[in-house]
Amino acid sequence: MKRAVCPGSFDPITYGHLDIIERASAQFDEVIVAVGNNRAKAGYFTVEERMQMIVETTAQFGNVKVDSWKGLLGDYCKANQIDVIIKGLRAMSDFDYELQMAQVNLQGSGVESMFMATSPAHSFLSSSLIKELAHYNGDVSTMVPPVVNAALKAREAGK
Ligand code: PNS
Repeated sequence: MKRAVCPGSFDPITYGHLDIIERASAQFDEVIVAVGNNRAKAGYFTVEERMQMIVETTAQFGNVKVDSWKGLLGDYCKANQIDVIIKGLRAMSDFDYELQMAQVNLQGSGVESMFMATSPAHSFLSSSLIKELAHYNGDVSTMVPPVVNAALKAREAGK
């Protein structure tokens, strides 16, 4: 069984992430969407909230599981028999950092990384941009699934 991981902060998950997850799920037997849980600083959403939104928005893909991890991604991959790390590249500006991470994960843990080109429709999306827009009442309904849009609105309304 070929198992891949789509790792990230997913704070929150966007249509850009979902595009990569869906396309990865067509290429591998199983895809694990793993939320990094290393940061000392709390995120906008808790790791549990992020995972719940990922569970709801990936339910239609039969071979996608959701998890979180602490520590090195390479160690997580080895402990969970994950063959490949999948990352989406939006633009050249993503490449330098992602190449460095891929090389560290290969050298340190022997885990392969594969890059997928983000669909052009999503190439400008980022979780940070979406949080900024949501904060100022911008319309993010074309950028995130309804459950995430509702969660952003609720969070902003509660502030
Ligand atoms: O969505 P993000 O914020 O770009 O995700 C980054 C993430 C969590 C995938 C990355 O920071 C990561 O893999 N962190 C785990 C620690 C690790 O293995 N770092 C690489 C070697 S220094």
